[in-house]
Amino acid sequence: MSTPAGSAISNLAASPFVWGTATASFQIEGAWNADGKGPSIWDNFCRKPGATHLGATGEVACDHYHRYAEDIALMADLGLQAYRFSLSWPRLLPQGTGSGNPAGLDFYDRLVDSLLAKGIAPWVTLYHWDLPQALAARGGWQNPDSPKWFSEYTRLAVERLGDRVAHWLTFNEPQIFTGLAHRMTLHAPGHNLPDSELVPLVHHVLLAHGLSTQAIRACARLAPRISWATIMLPTTPVDEKDSELVTASRHATFRVDPAGHWPLSHSWWTDPIYLGRYPEDGLAGLGQHLPAGWERDLATIAQPMDFLAMNTYHSRARAERAPDGQVRFRQENEFGPQTPRTHFHWPVTPESLYWGPRFLHERYRLPIVVTENGLSTHDWVALDGAVHDPLRIDFLHRYLRDLMRARAEGVPVQGYFHWSLLDNLEWAAGYEHRFGLIHVDFSTQKRTPKDSAHWYREVIRTNGARLQD
Ligand code: GCO
Repeated sequence: MSTPAGSAISNLAASPFVWGTATASFQIEGAWNADGKGPSIWDNFCRKPGATHLGATGEVACDHYHRYAEDIALMADLGLQAYRFSLSWPRLLPQGTGSGNPAGLDFYDRLVDSLLAKGIAPWVTLYHWDLPQALAARGGWQNPDSPKWFSEYTRLAVERLGDRVAHWLTFNEPQIFTGLAHRMTLHAPGHNLPDSELVPLVHHVLLAHGLSTQAIRACARLAPRISWATIMLPTTPVDEKDSELVTASRHATFRVDPAGHWPLSHSWWTDPIYLGRYPEDGLAGLGQHLPAGWERDLATIAQPMDFLAMNTYHSRARAERAPDGQVRFRQENEFGPQTPRTHFHWPVTPESLYWGPRFLHERYRLPIVVTENGLSTHDWVALDGAVHDPLRIDFLHRYLRDLMRARAEGVPVQGYFHWSLLDNLEWAAGYEHRFGLIHVDFSTQKRTPKDSAHWYREVIRTNGARLQD
């Protein structure tokens, strides 16, 4: 009998699908001031008392800057087909603009060459939150010149790497680095801006995405495939046969509430990029804060994209029936004890990897790539020298089955990148959360592949065949 997962397997064989892992520069590189690198806003933020858990910094992190060759050997052992990493802007341009830092450029050259030598495709994120401090001093993303800075930096990166890198992501989760960093004070630079300043900032980031995309296409020598990575935390129906719940979930997923946490919304970001317009519900409350000439910018913002990259960890809410039959929403913190939780207390909701791709594809009609998904657990090296992480294996198994079901039903999902390759610096939460397939002992920098790494290697080797077990 053909199960949904079973039919997904045949689809997997029929259409291209890439298996990878993901990281970000600030979270793994360390070498924060080596070889001419300038400080980033995260280097400064971590030094503020109380800003990060136990005062954690990225000064050493996983020391990947010095240990990249060992890490790539581990990736090759995993059988990875692709590796998503980000460039550190202040490593390439210590002042944010101007002439490039030769040692920084050489580092990424060596990284890309070493990946290619092992048959691993490099997928590059241009901005995973480590803005040069020198640019923050000039107002950062609040400065109307910031889109131009980003496009110059893009040119430098693509002129250097665009002969070997085909996959480019402009921004990683702008929702988070605007919402958490510029409204909720939790991430660098730790601001709390009113809408009158935050709406223009977001517009600058969108414009930066458009200009950067143009720069990639102008400078790349390999035909580029471009997206940005949205954080996709969908609202999901508890009963998918109940079409009202499905409709209500879709609507809630894309709704913008100008009076709520609108920077964390999906469509305030994704509609301008993929549809060339701001969503009406958001415009009603926020439109008056958009900078003069915003309508003209939309054509630049809405550059054609090749796919839609999404990072998904869990559902944000569930749509269900109240006892009186009305549709109601249960928020993620109200899911109750029957829903397991990760060490971050995020609910384990495999269905988010079914509905997220499906909703995004229905709305934007492009292929989907999952560029992050994973969980944090408390993993340690056992007496037998191994790292046993059965919860991660079960989590991945469940989430991947749901992703493959979306695929079997016709959602063109073209890849999956596990977050993360290595245990690393989880931003303000410090080293408390271990997301890696590979355990890192932060006192010795010893790497130990976890049981989940061996499991994932089999998933890759068999192109997903084990997922139906
Ligand atoms: C994000 C980032 C990653 C995180 C990961 C786990 O989603 O916040 O892209 O840098 O480390 O998501 O929280």
